[in-house]
Amino acid sequence: MAQYDVIIIGAGPGGYVSAIRCAQLGLKTACVEGRATLGGTCLNVGCIPSKALLHASHMLHEAEHNFATMGLKGKAPSVDWKQMLAYKDDTIGQNTGGIEFLFKKNKIDWIKGYASIPEAGKVKVGDEIHEAKNIVIASGSVPSSLPGVEVDEKVVVTSTGALELPKVPKKMVVIGAGVIGLELGSVYSRLGAEVTVIEFLDVITPGMDPEVQRTLQRILKKQGMEFIMGAAVQKTEVAKSKAKVTYKLRKDDSEHEIEADAVLVATGRKPYTEGLGLDALGIQMSPRGQIEVGKDWQTNVKGIYAIGDCIAGPMLAHKAEDEGMAVAEQIAGKHGHVNYGVIPGVIYTTPEVASVGETEETLKKAGRAYKAGKFSFMGNARAKAVFQAEGFVKILVDKETDRILGAHIIGPGAGDLIHEICVAMEFGASAEDVALTCHAHPTYSEAVREAALACGDGPIHS
Ligand code: NAI
Repeated sequence: MAQYDVIIIGAGPGGYVSAIRCAQLGLKTACVEGRATLGGTCLNVGCIPSKALLHASHMLHEAEHNFATMGLKGKAPSVDWKQMLAYKDDTIGQNTGGIEFLFKKNKIDWIKGYASIPEAGKVKVGDEIHEAKNIVIASGSVPSSLPGVEVDEKVVVTSTGALELPKVPKKMVVIGAGVIGLELGSVYSRLGAEVTVIEFLDVITPGMDPEVQRTLQRILKKQGMEFIMGAAVQKTEVAKSKAKVTYKLRKDDSEHEIEADAVLVATGRKPYTEGLGLDALGIQMSPRGQIEVGKDWQTNVKGIYAIGDCIAGPMLAHKAEDEGMAVAEQIAGKHGHVNYGVIPGVIYTTPEVASVGETEETLKKAGRAYKAGKFSFMGNARAKAVFQAEGFVKILVDKETDRILGAHIIGPGAGDLIHEICVAMEFGASAEDVALTCHAHPTYSEAVREAALACGDGPIHS
């Protein structure tokens, strides 16, 4: 029987990063993973494969819409779906293989199989029991189900099935205008499907800055996506590889139907803790099925920790990674910490959307005096040159002190630009600090500086 300092359950971004940090800190570490490859949902059936398909479909969109304007002549390429899926799978393989290499390099044992915890200090995988002074649960999340909607992963699919459809559907219905719905909806829309998004609320991407929500919806509509807002999906019925989706409009309770060749259910995810034996251990859970943890990510059972999607907070790979590093440091007797106020969120549509910190809504609710500095990409030369001048950067600052409280970006490279603001927030910087920093020309990042200038004496290019 092997003895470990730490056994981590799950090799997603939370688990594998935690394992690497534990090993770097000198702890004898193992990671249990039942999938055939490491990397969890994110690398195998989530963030990474979707980014490959988003990239390929964006290239097609560029060829169809902008090549001629740039003087690039000839017919736009047609879609070889099998090859596109092979490219996506190759991208996955390179990344999952990379983690396997890192495990070997850091002398982390990969215990293959699914784990349960018979008691504190013990992890059971198959018939074998492994001993560990510390156990970190990083078991992730699974798509939540919707009553009346039966997922077969062929016609009615979750994000997993949506990455493996047998062909590009003619008509696709997406249930839920959240991150998954909009990213994968964009992929299929750009590949030629008629995509209709049905959303329960009156706004897309709940929780985001309302101006960003409106701008993104307007741009996606212009790109060809249809939206049915304020509608609750009641059921789906599948016959002969076609689906009928029934939904009710909230404003008048009227019932409607829509047909599709594929239905993507993207109505949120829930923690995955099945089979771990948490009940028998007496581990405290929240009413939403999340594992309850303290400030050091320890559960109410000593020596058992939990991180990532299976605990509270945004279900984001990078939040799990940060918790993974921090919990490793805690276990090693150091001072692991996560600043939950500075966790960026990104939607990888075109244009990208990114946000961090407070929104105008949260600030108003808290009664805080703030100022918003906004700059449109219309005033950014680089964005104009690449047909991406729609969108803006908005920085929110404390009215008194000018300290940055949050930022919301919709536009080219938003997912990268946001990190300038994240670093500024980590350092407690003011908008003036950003405005006084020289930004290279011509870059998209100049729009961030201009928004910072808009918090003070005003931007130059608007
Ligand atoms: P989500 O929570 O982002 O959005 C779900 C949407 O479905 C909401 O707008 C909700 O109002 C709507 N909805 C719920 N029930 C409905 C019904 N019966 N009829 C119509 N609409 C309904 O969930 P999503 O997109 O499934 O993503 C799950 C998690 O994965 C999120 O926490 C997200 O942050 C994460 N994720 C993050 C990505 C990123 O960072 N780029 C990419 C993909 C997923």
